[in-house]
Amino acid sequence: MIPQDIKKNLSKAYDRQSKQRNQSRTQDWKIKERGAFLEKLKNEKKHSLLEIGSGPGKDSLFFSQEGFNVQATDLSEDMVQLCREKGLKADVMSFDDLQFPESSFDAVWALNCLLHVPKENLPEILRGIRSVLKKDGLFYLGVYGGINHEGIWQKDFHEPKRFFSFYEDEILESILKREFKLEAFHKIPIEEGEDGPTHFQGVILRK
Ligand SMILES: C[S@@+](CC[C@H](N)C(=O)[O-])C[C@H]1O[C@@H](n2cnc3c(N)ncnc32)[C@H](O)[C@@H]1O
Repeated sequence: MIPQDIKKNLSKAYDRQSKQRNQSRTQDWKIKERGAFLEKLKNEKKHSLLEIGSGPGKDSLFFSQEGFNVQATDLSEDMVQLCREKGLKADVMSFDDLQFPESSFDAVWALNCLLHVPKENLPEILRGIRSVLKKDGLFYLGVYGGINHEGIWQKDFHEPKRFFSFYEDEILESILKREFKLEAFHKIPIEEGEDGPTHFQGVILRK
C-alpha cells in the first residue's frame, strides 16, 4: 500500500487545485491520445471503463458521452464531487485499494495519476488493475517521464508539494511487461524545466 502520508498530502494538494483543474483546457496531444484509445475500444466493442485518478472527470465525461458505462474514481473528495456534478458515477477510492470484483471492466484509463506512486508500490497496483480488468481488457497508462526520479518534486507549484516517480522508457516498459502485454508506447515531447521529465509516455496495455 502507498504510505498514508503521501496519499494525505496528494489529496490535500488536489482538493485545493480542483476548481482550477476543472476549468483548464485539455491539451491537443491529450485529446489525440484519448481519441486513439477510444477508437481501439470501439473497434473491439468494449463497453465498460474504469477511470482511476480521474481528477475533475473530463475524460470520464468524454467516454461516457461516447456511450461507455463509466466509473470514475479519485483520492480527492473535491475532485469526486466535480465528477458527480457532471452526472458521472464517481467514488472516492485509492488505486492501491480498488473496491471492485475481479473482471469488472473492459478497460481502465489512467492519465497522469500513476506518477504519484512510490516505485516499490507500482507492481502491486498494476496487479490490482489487472485483476479488475476482464480477459483481453485494455489499459491506457499515461505518465510524464524520460528521467529517473522518486520523491517530493521540490519545484512543484502545488501546496503541499507532491510526490512523483518518473521512469526512463526502457525501465517503465520492462515493469509494465511483467503484468501486461504491451500494444503501443507513444513518446510525446513536452516543455518542462531543465531537470524535469523530458516527455510524456502513453502506453496501451492488454491483460
Ligand atoms: C495530475 S491529476 C490528473 C487528473 C486527470 N486524470 C487528468 O488527466 O486531468 C492526478 C489525479 O490523481 C489523483 N490521485 C493521486 N493519487 C491517487 C491515488 N492513490 N488513488 C486515486 N487517485 C489518486 C489525484 O487526486 C488527482 O486528481
